[in-house]
Amino acid sequence: MKIRDIELKNDVILGPMAGVTNQAFRELVIKEGIALVYSEMVSDKAICYRNEKTMKMLEVSPNEHPFSMQLFGHDKDSMVQAAQYLDQHVNCEIIDINMGCPMPKITNNGAGSALMKDPQYAYELVREIVDHVSKPVTVKIRAGWDENSINAVEVATLLEKAGVSAIAVHGRTRKQLYEGKADWDIIRQVKEAVNVPVIGNGDVASYEDKMRMKELTHCDGVMVARAICGNPWLVRELITGEKAEVNVEERLEMLITHMNKLIDLKGEYIGVREMRGQSGWYLSGLPYNNRMKDLLNQVRSKEEIMDLVNSYQQILLLDKDEQKEAIHKLRNRGA
Ligand SMILES: Cc1cc2nc3c(=O)[nH]c(=O)nc-3n(C[C@H](O)[C@H](O)[C@H](O)COP(=O)(O)O)c2cc1C
Repeated sequence: MKIRDIELKNDVILGPMAGVTNQAFRELVIKEGIALVYSEMVSDKAICYRNEKTMKMLEVSPNEHPFSMQLFGHDKDSMVQAAQYLDQHVNCEIIDINMGCPMPKITNNGAGSALMKDPQYAYELVREIVDHVSKPVTVKIRAGWDENSINAVEVATLLEKAGVSAIAVHGRTRKQLYEGKADWDIIRQVKEAVNVPVIGNGDVASYEDKMRMKELTHCDGVMVARAICGNPWLVRELITGEKAEVNVEERLEMLITHMNKLIDLKGEYIGVREMRGQSGWYLSGLPYNNRMKDLLNQVRSKEEIMDLVNSYQQILLLDKDEQKEAIHKLRNRGA
């Protein structure tokens, strides 16, 4: 698959996730061979104001290419200005526009999925951006705002006219948030309606899912988001079809690698706090994972995470009755 002149090495793409797809997380996924990564969404206004935190989010390391930087916003002037900044000063190959975010703090300002409510404005906005940058511009949309306004085909057709180089379609409405099942048929309809590459998105968690989505929709690439959290090995499965056999040690090792990268990126205070929610991903399906997640949610230092992971490893070596008692002790230790 090609996005304008950018040839992707396979059809598996990491979806943007605010609070997740920072450099630390992306590195884990890139190592597994993914074809394209997206940033977290970044605010047009924050770029225009050169907000320090946002400037840091624009950093792309040499091994992250090709890279798509996702922009959210509503106003034409600031969106164009921010896109020009990405075009001229940021080491990304692609500029993506967010038309999918369902969060009120974004949609109340007319950004994210709210842009789909006014297809003509969305068209003008994107055309203006395309006209002012030299890098390829792509857009990530949803099926529509709600079940009564499914307009992905109309919006995608206009976006193609505006000059976008690819369109990613998440088969849910804004109203659905992340609930219910993604409607892959809307992806098929968009693919049928436009000539630019279409990236299908929503509920892909296995190679079988990917192949079924491709067969049903004929999409060019498949974007995966939630299923990769805590499971970067899924990338290789999605590319090759071979299931990754990952043991507990490898999972815990990945948790520690993720934590170390996040601390390198953000410092211990923030890194550890962000890992509170994310550590638990690596324990999914393992014994006592909920209890461990509760404990990991309360950690305050790298040392505490290391200590918990080490204790957990020791506990898993015990027999069942001893495990129960040891977990109980671990829970009460800090109380
Ligand atoms: C925590 C989280 C943050 C997200 N942030 C963004 C974002 O910044 N921009 C965006 O376009 N989509 C965002 N999404 C949506 C995902 O990219 C994707 O469209 C959605 O999760 C469906 O794909 P999946 O079923 O593979 O997870 C986010 C999703 C999650 C779960």
